[in-house]
Amino acid sequence: MKKLHIETYGCQMNVADSEVVASILSPHYSITDSLHEADLILLNTCSVRDNAEQRIRKRLRELAALKKKNKHLLVGLLGCMAERIKEQLLEEEKTLDFIAGPDAYRSLPELIDKASVGTVSFNVHLSEEETYDDIDPVRYDSNGVSAFISIMRGCNNFCSYCVVPYTRGRERSREPNTIIAEAQNLFKKGFKEVTLLGQNVNSYCWKEAEKNIDFADLTEQIARISPLLRVRYATSHPKDISDKLLFVMAKYPNVCHYIHLPVQAGSNEMLKKMNRIYTREYYLERIKRIKEILPDCAISTDIIAGFCGETEQNHQDTLSLMKKVGYEYAFMFKYSVREGTKAAEKFEDDISEELKIKRLEEIIALQQQLSLESNKRDIGKTVTVLVEGVSKRSDQHLFGRNSQNKVCVFPRQHYKVGDYVEVKISRCTAGTLMA
Ligand code: 5AD
Ligand code: SF4
Repeated sequence: MKKLHIETYGCQMNVADSEVVASILSPHYSITDSLHEADLILLNTCSVRDNAEQRIRKRLRELAALKKKNKHLLVGLLGCMAERIKEQLLEEEKTLDFIAGPDAYRSLPELIDKASVGTVSFNVHLSEEETYDDIDPVRYDSNGVSAFISIMRGCNNFCSYCVVPYTRGRERSREPNTIIAEAQNLFKKGFKEVTLLGQNVNSYCWKEAEKNIDFADLTEQIARISPLLRVRYATSHPKDISDKLLFVMAKYPNVCHYIHLPVQAGSNEMLKKMNRIYTREYYLERIKRIKEILPDCAISTDIIAGFCGETEQNHQDTLSLMKKVGYEYAFMFKYSVREGTKAAEKFEDDISEELKIKRLEEIIALQQQLSLESNKRDIGKTVTVLVEGVSKRSDQHLFGRNSQNKVCVFPRQHYKVGDYVEVKISRCTAGTLMA
């Protein structure tokens, strides 16, 4: 059997996609960690910001050296960057033998066959139906405890800054029985946690004869598989965070009390230009409702600093919203123009690099403080942790997460990976709870 090495960049969706790719190629290729052993190297790429793409370009230059040494080595590029730059990428990057966009992974065996006889080719066709629903992903990089399940693909929202609708195509949901079967199977194999994935996971909708199955219905069905199977999901759009879903989360203790709810910006002016279709007031009302129905729910977010035309007041509005919500965690970015998006066409990228950096640093510093405050409030509490592995710092300690997705480190004793352990929090940093 030949050897395949996959490198995954970007989001969790890509991690799940790489597992689908490993499954599609499994009749001919087994996975290897080693670059040198590989007959085929695949880079599953991300285009969401320019620096993500620059990293891939650099990686391709490194792989060129490897190809010189091993004439039979094939290198393919997958994911959003393949979709965004298409055949031009094959012109620019001579290291590449083929490229495949996110909906073209079933054609990989064909692309590889062509490449092995020296024909450089690509498939970047976007589909309105492809969900890879019949493919059983190969969990090649798994801890055996938690797994991703991709439940919908694509995006219909067209946030003005975002390249995703162009690289991943339109929104489509996966047939629910295949999702439930995948979760049941994982549980049977000993997995204790599934994360339901989609670009807008809570827009999930499956129409069947007379019935619509929405995300709350699906979550409930997965939660019922076993109280010992934790359910998480990401990423949610604020427009779809329904009371119905919050009530399902309250009813089933195994649905984790953690919501990733990207806000992107705190002022209505920026939200409108970003085409986020909600206001600051609507977003804060949803947060209030989350806290009413799930008082112990942790909330995280995504924030973009320095979007087109952002004034100091707009930036202050982002900071004040962050304080109002008191986020547990945030992913924070500088705005990066993406060719082909509405923002690139309509607005000037007029915030200087220095100002973007300054604002981003202020956002990061505030989040650091909010995370620390949130963790300090947990000191003295007893929480249930699902053990994921041995702590990097000490082999006498294990780590895992509580329902709120906070990492907890505690003495190993007789516990093992996959156990649920009740621990009492004694200390913390902004990033970790110590128990
Ligand atoms: N520039 C900076 N950040 C971006 N994101 C998406 N597009 C851009 C962009 N052009 C961020 C958003 C999104 C996260 C996945 O990446 O915050 O939620
Ligand atoms: Fe991008 Fe917006 Fe779709 Fe998220 S919802 S993937 S930010 S277009």
